[in-house]
Amino acid sequence: MSTQLARISSLATKATARAWSARDVAWSQPIVLPDGIRPVVYVDLVSQLYHAELVALDALARMHAELTEPEARAFLATQIADEERHAQVYRAYLERVGDLRPIDPGLATSFDAARAWTGPAWALVVALNVMMEHEALHQQHKRIATLPCPLFKEINQRIAADESRHAGFGVLYLEHALPRVPAGEKADVIAWLRTLWARWHDANRGRYQAAGEEVLRLDAEELERRGRRVGATLASLGLGEDDRVLA
Ligand SMILES: [Fe+2]
Ligand SMILES: [Fe+2]
Repeated sequence: MSTQLARISSLATKATARAWSARDVAWSQPIVLPDGIRPVVYVDLVSQLYHAELVALDALARMHAELTEPEARAFLATQIADEERHAQVYRAYLERVGDLRPIDPGLATSFDAARAWTGPAWALVVALNVMMEHEALHQQHKRIATLPCPLFKEINQRIAADESRHAGFGVLYLEHALPRVPAGEKADVIAWLRTLWARWHDANRGRYQAAGEEVLRLDAEELERRGRRVGATLASLGLGEDDRVLA
């Protein structure tokens, strides 16, 4: 067994030991909406996080069916349980702040590009566990730091701990699998990742532009920086030459 597979097995053990339940959340805490942000906009933000969890579950079902290593499949089973719990707590939070809002059309476009992938399943590990989990993690930390709702903070802290394990799995799995992947296959995956990133970038650029919504906004410079960070991770795994791989 490779070192990476052994480490994936211990991540799965850790996931099982640290699994929490929606009932563990202190739901009686007050809801605090950010100052100056219309409730509908706040509900929209949380709704998009909920929709993203469902997209993750779709991709995970495929990864669990198609990845062959038992250690990876055992970990993915824990991740599926985690993402189901995340969707459940976001939904429960949404019931307390307002109704679920529909998926943002720009985000839907990037999620559709992700769903359209019919190539090898390791590419889904890159898109979900490396690109989106690193990115989602960053956004969650940012919101924990900037949004005032103590209940939302608790939920996001619990979720961020899970997502950081998922991101860890992504790196380990790819270190294990990528050395055997032919260069042509890697190039196809990189081209697809660029499309995904460009759509994610466009979707975020147009959101939360009204006065007062700055706290929710990802500005162009920050998106650029995030793209370079994810690009550097990809390059360190052997996907692309340098941190401009997604540019
Ligand atoms: Fe999640
Ligand atoms: Fe995750």
